[in-house]
Amino acid sequence: MWLPCGCTSKYVASSFARRILASHLHVSGRSRCNVAAFMPEAAGFEGVSGRAALRELSVSNSESFWAAVARHRLSWSIPFHTVQDCDLSRGKIKWFEGGKLNVSVNCLDRHVHTCPERVALIWERDERGSEMKYTYRELLEMTCRVGNLLRRHGVKRGDCVTIYMPTCPLAVASMLACARIGAAHNVVFAGFSADALAERIRDAQSSTVITVNQGVRGGKVIELKKTVDTAVESCPTVKQVFVAMRTDNPVTMTARDIEDVVCEPAVMNSEDVLFLLYTSGSTGKPKGLVHTQAGYLLYAALTHRYVFSYHDGDVFGCVADIGWITGHSYVVYGPLANGATTVLFESTPIYPDPGRYWDMVERLKINQFYGAPTAIRLLLKYGDQWVNKYDRSTLKTLGSVGEPINTEAWEWYHRVVGDGRCPVVDTWWQTETGGICIAPRPSDPDAEIVPGMAMRPFFGIKPVLIDTERCFGFLQGELLTSNNTSGALCMAQPWPGMARTIHNNHQRFIETYFQPYPGYFFTGDGAYRSEEGYYQITGRLDDVINVSGHRIGTAEIEDVVVRAQLSCPAVAESAVIGYTHSIKGQGVYAFVVLKKGIDVKEADLSRQLNGMVSEKIAKYASPDFIQFAQRLPKTRSGKIMRRVLRKVVESDLEGLGDLSTLDDPAAVQEIIQGRRCHVMAQKR
Ligand code: WTA
Repeated sequence: MWLPCGCTSKYVASSFARRILASHLHVSGRSRCNVAAFMPEAAGFEGVSGRAALRELSVSNSESFWAAVARHRLSWSIPFHTVQDCDLSRGKIKWFEGGKLNVSVNCLDRHVHTCPERVALIWERDERGSEMKYTYRELLEMTCRVGNLLRRHGVKRGDCVTIYMPTCPLAVASMLACARIGAAHNVVFAGFSADALAERIRDAQSSTVITVNQGVRGGKVIELKKTVDTAVESCPTVKQVFVAMRTDNPVTMTARDIEDVVCEPAVMNSEDVLFLLYTSGSTGKPKGLVHTQAGYLLYAALTHRYVFSYHDGDVFGCVADIGWITGHSYVVYGPLANGATTVLFESTPIYPDPGRYWDMVERLKINQFYGAPTAIRLLLKYGDQWVNKYDRSTLKTLGSVGEPINTEAWEWYHRVVGDGRCPVVDTWWQTETGGICIAPRPSDPDAEIVPGMAMRPFFGIKPVLIDTERCFGFLQGELLTSNNTSGALCMAQPWPGMARTIHNNHQRFIETYFQPYPGYFFTGDGAYRSEEGYYQITGRLDDVINVSGHRIGTAEIEDVVVRAQLSCPAVAESAVIGYTHSIKGQGVYAFVVLKKGIDVKEADLSRQLNGMVSEKIAKYASPDFIQFAQRLPKTRSGKIMRRVLRKVVESDLEGLGDLSTLDDPAAVQEIIQGRRCHVMAQKR
């Protein structure tokens, strides 16, 4: 069915000494901040005279804080009666119950009433200089058309619609159309393969898919519709696929279309599902995290406004793809809830040349730029001239997300891109958290920012560190209360933006996030708390790696490698690990043990295995290195010692640590030897 609507290594910055002091970043004199001007609803909080006190209150009296913010920031059709009803030990999270609202009304209609001609979206298309603008009125109309179309074709409240599209206005309208009619959306990153897409469609039990005929990225055409065709062959639930054309031609309007631009919004409960978003965990099966209406929207909007110092009239440029949580929260929901002009970036940082981002900043007059460290590291290598060519004087805040930002990249971003005058906010958060949880801002305007550190918890966020050593089984790890210490990063109290469950698997939700440290939400990351109490993320504690800011479970890749059916099943076992990569942050390194008696050329096999990972998951998950081994180092109980493999790959033989639990220490020597041969072969 054709859609008639127009669419045309973690690096750990260790330089605590290298403080960027306030004076560097911000203007004159110590400003005594006026809390009510900063956050109007705070005027009602007694005794709160500064931002630090406001933060204090948001944690110590989080119910009052969130109640005031929710009343002030969201438009409700019926007000909520209970602020929160949460029990972290049972994975029960409910916010604003009794309240009814519609997310698309909050993102569109209320702005159309006050400023219909304000630009909502600037679509920075792949073809440089061909951007298209859509006002709030136009975006509402597009959303209503899609909403009506979906309703006419039987999509109901509570259904789940899969969206497999590049970042474009119709994708945003499709997300909002689902929200309008009360359906959940399941956006699948358009870089995922047919198999990965099919798995997500099946798990979400979607009967409707929305896609485009072809995508265009970096000058290349991507056959998205063909991928959908292949995927749906193994998805018996799918009944209809809507296909939009990526074309410039305006749509011819008929009288009926004009009627179409009104689409009655469904009145939704605060805790109805807004969307599912699949992300990787430490098993081979991706999990569909569930976010609900009011709490998610409120948290995305508040973090967008305060972390980036967004002000009315600003042009907000987050270059993430809508297929990731960053795209959901900071391309779509946060900015639109705040009535911002948000940029949809369809291209790549180096197309047609490495000046693309900064040319866009100049052309679109972007005020806040939010991107991933991997792109910053790549652009840094091309040199300052690509940045200096363009006028970046509109920039006020620079953001970083998705992975640790190393000091060199941070400083280049700050000094060259931001001319040394824009605060750089390294924002830590996850698909699970819904929005930014730790970032240098908001804070007093003259508060220091330490390079490569996320630093300060957001309003209502209470991070804690827990001793990782002492946590086994149901024994609770010890809460680390002092500063200058590292541990498992957990959250001690709930916040409105957090995920509510894993679709169809609440037990996995509880086991993953709430059982490791009972009473706390476990993030899966480790962190360091400095002498001053600032947080720095030290990396994942589980088998999840982060390649170019894209999260992937090593088990997912291992599953594909082990299942590889070549002329015959050739692979006995595999261990995949992440290693420090100068551009991607982490690269993928696969150890492969072949079945006995298999006679194949390793180079051929490597090529085939790479192809299979691209085909089954996505290109970014494909191994950078494949090392064939006779066996893998294992404990006596048969567990592969990945810690040892990581040390070998990072050439840290001193750091191999305790090998006494190894079943056969000679296996390590073989791996080291194999690695040496591998490195030498690469050099040749
Ligand atoms: C990592 C992306 C260091 C972290 C928003 C987290 C970071 C995972 C940072 C979530 C940061 C994200 N510094 N690490 N500023 N931001 N991460 O779900 O390991 O795609 O758990 O969400 O990325 O990835 P996700």
